[in-house]
Amino acid sequence: MKIGVFGAGYVGLVTAVCLADLGFDLWVVEKNKAKLDKLRAGINTIYEAGLTELLNKNIELGRIQFTDEGKFVVENSEAIFLCVGTPSRPDGSADMSQIESAMKEIVEQTVQLGQYRLVVVKSTVPVGTSAWLRKIASMYARGHESLIDIASNPEFLREGAAVKDFMEPDRIVLGCSSERARELLTYIYQQFDCPKIVTDSNTAEIIKYAANSFLATKISFINMVADLCESVGGDISQVAEGMGYDKRIGKEFLRAGIGFGGSCFPKDLRAFVHVGQLHNLNFSLLEEVIKINQSRPQRVIARLKEMLWVLQGKKIAVLGLTFKPNTDDVRETPAAGLIAALKAEGAIVSATDPIGIDNFKKIYPLEAKDVHFHEKPEMALKNSHAVLLVTDWPEYNQLNWAGIRNEVELPLFLDGRNFLKNQTGLIDDFLYTAVGSKSTGGN
Ligand code: UDX
Repeated sequence: MKIGVFGAGYVGLVTAVCLADLGFDLWVVEKNKAKLDKLRAGINTIYEAGLTELLNKNIELGRIQFTDEGKFVVENSEAIFLCVGTPSRPDGSADMSQIESAMKEIVEQTVQLGQYRLVVVKSTVPVGTSAWLRKIASMYARGHESLIDIASNPEFLREGAAVKDFMEPDRIVLGCSSERARELLTYIYQQFDCPKIVTDSNTAEIIKYAANSFLATKISFINMVADLCESVGGDISQVAEGMGYDKRIGKEFLRAGIGFGGSCFPKDLRAFVHVGQLHNLNFSLLEEVIKINQSRPQRVIARLKEMLWVLQGKKIAVLGLTFKPNTDDVRETPAAGLIAALKAEGAIVSATDPIGIDNFKKIYPLEAKDVHFHEKPEMALKNSHAVLLVTDWPEYNQLNWAGIRNEVELPLFLDGRNFLKNQTGLIDDFLYTAVGSKSTGGN
């Protein structure tokens, strides 16, 4: 079976490569010329474990092809996945212009071709989008709308684990409006034996936003409790463990820290709140989740001040710039707010990250100004008055902390991810403070 994908961004490329690897023939439309040239040459455009190998394998097998012409894709594929971007607009709503123009192109080509096509929406879209796309289809199809079906099939891919998440999903959600769409999608996903929720498209769209909002709520909740642990004396890691053994709560997404970032949680929360406002519903719970998250950098700065008193003129080493490890993505990373706040206090900032430095400089030119960037963490740590861990990169567990102790000005360590609390080399030689617990060590 031939399948099309519109948009070779994060979701589109992972979806296309994985479906090709399952044996389907893939046609991918990418309008960005530079990206298209790279992909045609087998050069992966996103940083994702295992993706480069799968991309090249399937290019060699002739199972995946890239083009900038939607026409070829519509001609060649019975099912077309819409994976174009839906960035946040200033009011928090999702910008749907790329979805609309892709849809228009697909409908026009389908009508010319006179053959049935199923459009599968994989981008994260506001509730009601599939219904709205059906209206667009009937406007542009002018009497031929029976040729087009729209279905919703949200993705739940985590950056850094996207290939695994695609190949071994917890569940697959299929929002279908017709029997034909249901049959086609069930066929595409027949090799997966996870639970499949076949439902209407509104329900499918709500599942995606509700899942991400709920996970983000867990994180803000545990961060709120972490603040209490700091105030009264308590250990948030053990609180989370004690809660997580309750099967109704679960252990996942209860790691307290500097807050969530990335391309999904912040954007999806804003969009879900916006949907609530559109329908005059009280989504203030989620507004608080956002507020708690936004306040995390200031909370960390306050903790740093307790350790150092004056930040003016102090050298602070920031470990990690990406929003989480194993990705080069810095979108909505807590590092940006932290670095801005440190500079506003008059601190001298040095920063390091295994792969995120270039992206950070590109996306946050203002925050990056006057920051001393070093690829080697040892260089960033040299002569620092305090170390602030922002991203839990495994590399930071391998450093020779006892040796680094002799290179720093003051041995103060603030762990924004509760990540190195079992690193004896560090705990023994530094005054170690983690989010949600009292300080330890410091010889
Ligand atoms: C998320 C969802 O997990 C995925 O299903 C969806 O499709 C896209 O959004 P992703 O943004 O890649 O995936 O990252 P995720 O691993 O979920 O982490 C998001 C953020 O939350 C990171 O900044 C991470 O550091 C933070 N986090 C996560 C915590 O602070 N504590 C936790 O316990 C878990």
